[in-house]
Amino acid sequence: MGTEPPICYPLFAMSNNQPMTIKSIVTNIVCVLIIAPVVTALIVWAAMVLRPDPPPQTMSPHAATSHTAVIRPAPHMPVSGRTVYMANCARCHGATGDGNGTEILDRPARSFLAGGFSFGNTTEAIRRVVQHGIAGTPMPGFAGVLGASQTGAVVKYVQAMAPVAPPVGDEAEMVVGDHPRVIRGMLPPRGPWDEVQPRGLIVGGTDGLALSYDVDDVRFRVARQGPFVRRTDWEDRGGTPLQPLGRVIHFAGVTAPFWKGGEPVAADFLGTSTQGERASVRLAVGEAVIAEQAAIDSHKSLPGYVRTLNVTGDASGLLMSIPSFEEAVFLGDSDGWNWWRGGDDVIGVQGAERSGERVALPPTGTVKLLVLPSVDAERAAAAGIPTKAPTS
Ligand code: HEC
Repeated sequence: MGTEPPICYPLFAMSNNQPMTIKSIVTNIVCVLIIAPVVTALIVWAAMVLRPDPPPQTMSPHAATSHTAVIRPAPHMPVSGRTVYMANCARCHGATGDGNGTEILDRPARSFLAGGFSFGNTTEAIRRVVQHGIAGTPMPGFAGVLGASQTGAVVKYVQAMAPVAPPVGDEAEMVVGDHPRVIRGMLPPRGPWDEVQPRGLIVGGTDGLALSYDVDDVRFRVARQGPFVRRTDWEDRGGTPLQPLGRVIHFAGVTAPFWKGGEPVAADFLGTSTQGERASVRLAVGEAVIAEQAAIDSHKSLPGYVRTLNVTGDASGLLMSIPSFEEAVFLGDSDGWNWWRGGDDVIGVQGAERSGERVALPPTGTVKLLVLPSVDAERAAAAGIPTKAPTS
């Protein structure tokens, strides 16, 4: 018996013409089954470890775009607009803008995918709606929630959802573009209790607010928000009423607007003028001249509109009725406004002292009437508006 051959010796022994024994055959099988996998594993490991380093990541502009495109929603949707939308709008308008949000609403929120904005599709019109909301609907105002750049971004985002189409309208439809519009003509009745007003006036602002007046005594009739007016009297000029298209947000009362010494005082129409985005209506009452303008506005998150009356001349002793369909009840003061309730609406007055059921105009100065349509006691209280009439 010589020395035991080292493992795998028989592989070499075979080539030396030495006789094959049972033992050498078994040893060969063991050798192939054990040693070969170990050697293979070593070769694979060495290949991985000794592999040359990959080239360093280059920040070529092309590489940067293709990388960020993965985490950004889409190149044409600005990140901030989408973020603002998802956080503030999606619960009502739906994550995709289809109008199906998670919030249960008594009237549906708009689907942006169909286009056809009824409150105007210009950047300015949509910005106004987002800032101040739509009176009498669940659409809240975001003026106190979103900053100017957030509002701008979400407006662009909403506009980008809609198909590119010109604003809907036909030949007879008058549209308020980037200038206010004033139209005179016959006004339809506001309801079954009302009559046609042959000499009417409608003043439409760029923000989609349109106020109708009787020209005879310059009496404010109704405020609408939305598209402007369709003319039906092209042929027989003045023979058929104008058709105001916006949604009514506020009715005036039936009582005379101005009073002196317990008697109503009729106002005289002096004319209208437009300056920038606003149109004003001028009227004479007694010794005073009043120039009035209106604009979409809001208080806290409550949407509405404001009428600003610029009083010159002398309005001493002149009282003004609260413009409300139902008799207005005084609620109290907060945030610099005297608040009144008229039916479903809350009306704030600034610049005119309360005098019984009415307010006394200042001899000269500025009076503001802020109308917040369809605000119940709970929403009014949440906005800091007194809800109970003071006992005094
Ligand atoms: C509490 C629910 C609610 C939230 C939150 C909300 N909306 Fe609305 N929105 C509505 C409803 C309801 C309408 C439709 C009002 C109507 O005409 O009856 C609407 C209408 C609109 C319109 C007018 C569409 C037209 O026809 O012209 C715009 C624009 C709009 N919303 C944008 C937004 C944006 C932007 C946000 C987020 C910053 C937002 N909304 C958040 C409920 C909501």
